[in-house]
Amino acid sequence: MEKQVKRIGVLTSGGDAPGMNAAVRAVVRTAVNHGIDCIGIRRGWNGLINSDFIHMNAASVSHIINKGGTMLYTARSEEFREPSGRAKALATCKLLGLDGIVAIGGDGTFRGALALSRQAAESGHSLQVVGIPATIDNDIGCSHYTIGFDTACNTAIECVDKLRDTMQSHERCSVVEVMGRHAGYLALYVGIAVGATAVLIPEREVDFERDIVEKIRRARLAGTTHYMVVVAEGAGSAMDIASRIHDEIGIDPRVTVLGHIQRGGSPTARDRETASRMGYKAVVTLMEGRGNRIVGTQNGRIVDLDMEEALQMVKNFQMDRYEVLESLSSTKNPLL
Ligand code: F6P
Repeated sequence: MEKQVKRIGVLTSGGDAPGMNAAVRAVVRTAVNHGIDCIGIRRGWNGLINSDFIHMNAASVSHIINKGGTMLYTARSEEFREPSGRAKALATCKLLGLDGIVAIGGDGTFRGALALSRQAAESGHSLQVVGIPATIDNDIGCSHYTIGFDTACNTAIECVDKLRDTMQSHERCSVVEVMGRHAGYLALYVGIAVGATAVLIPEREVDFERDIVEKIRRARLAGTTHYMVVVAEGAGSAMDIASRIHDEIGIDPRVTVLGHIQRGGSPTARDRETASRMGYKAVVTLMEGRGNRIVGTQNGRIVDLDMEEALQMVKNFQMDRYEVLESLSSTKNPLL
């Protein structure tokens, strides 16, 4: 017979992402709606190691759906990577009587969750974990979409549009570096949306002559006097790209590294709505007695997948979108 879920924990871990608060809210409110106690674990997995937690109710998550960041704080825990750190975390889980944990974050967060659940099983304790993907990088293999990506894209687009104004006035070239860690999704979407002259992503080997020099030269021949180059941080440093542009084309680009500004801000409709659905689904999954799952989106539907299998999944880069980008900024279309 399925064990009735009486008490669950919720935490956010890894880099924050806009919409994490909306996911926390959905977890807490779904739990409250089903008479399940909810404990907020603070500062990621460190909160379990250090017994840093708060009791949550419907009121604790009022007025957070519109807020960026995470009310539970977040961290990357070195100690939790070690069995000794997880043993301390498990002691807290037992003390609190947690039947399950909803972990909101990225791949690293989910690997930690799985290791904890396995270590619990080895010590004869049942602890079910469910992951919710939240990262501005959109780089989780098992989910088409991760919470925070849309807001980060919109923030970056707003910044690049502003840069465009000034580079147009001064007839300059702008090289903008966006985040994404090893993935180019943010750069790809932003590049399409701002109509960039050139976009560099880690998923495609960079040919400087073809991808940058030729595009800027064609644009110049067509009469353009300002150029926008978007670089994914995983594809290289904007500083290096700018200095090569200077050396090879003889123009003097300005560099902007957007940095952590992309991680903040009020979540967009897409992030609030997706986070709310994922938070709900995570609690329902636990109530149905299914643990060690990752909630994700597949073709717009919210699904839950076996955590171990999900962690092996590799995302197919959206080359169809790259083709759109290439077509719209080809050397036959050199204008911004
Ligand atoms: O994973 C989210 C992310 O913002 C990446 O895009 C970036 O590479 C990294 O985190 C930055 O990490 P930190 O906040 O530790 O500087």
